[in-house]
Amino acid sequence: MRIEHLGIAVPSLGEVIEKFKFILHAEHIHTEEVPEQKVRIASFDVGGSALELLEPTSDDSPIAKFLEKKGPGIHHVALAVDDVEAELERLKDAGYRLVDEVPRAGAHGLKIAFLHPGSTGGVLVELCSR
Ligand code: CO
Repeated sequence: MRIEHLGIAVPSLGEVIEKFKFILHAEHIHTEEVPEQKVRIASFDVGGSALELLEPTSDDSPIAKFLEKKGPGIHHVALAVDDVEAELERLKDAGYRLVDEVPRAGAHGLKIAFLHPGSTGGVLVELCSR
């Protein structure tokens, strides 16, 4: 397993993109809108893992709610796994609470599913596979 990406909630991509471009000496930035999650994403490759800046595209986006409650900052940790369905089943059998019983579509064409922070020490964990 490895960290696929860290999701960072921001009210607006513009200024923060410039900050991370500078910090990371980045030239190539992948941007994408993910309608299923009501976010616009800017992602930076960092040694094979990514930093993903997440901007809400509507007031009822989960990211908008997060920003309201906690302000900008790290929103979730995404782990790359071989088979999301198999991992969900394994964790559910072990008593973990799942946000998603069935994987959904994420950025970069990944299959993703979230584990409930109540089962992970307060961290929103995303599992993803190709
Ligand atoms: Co993510």
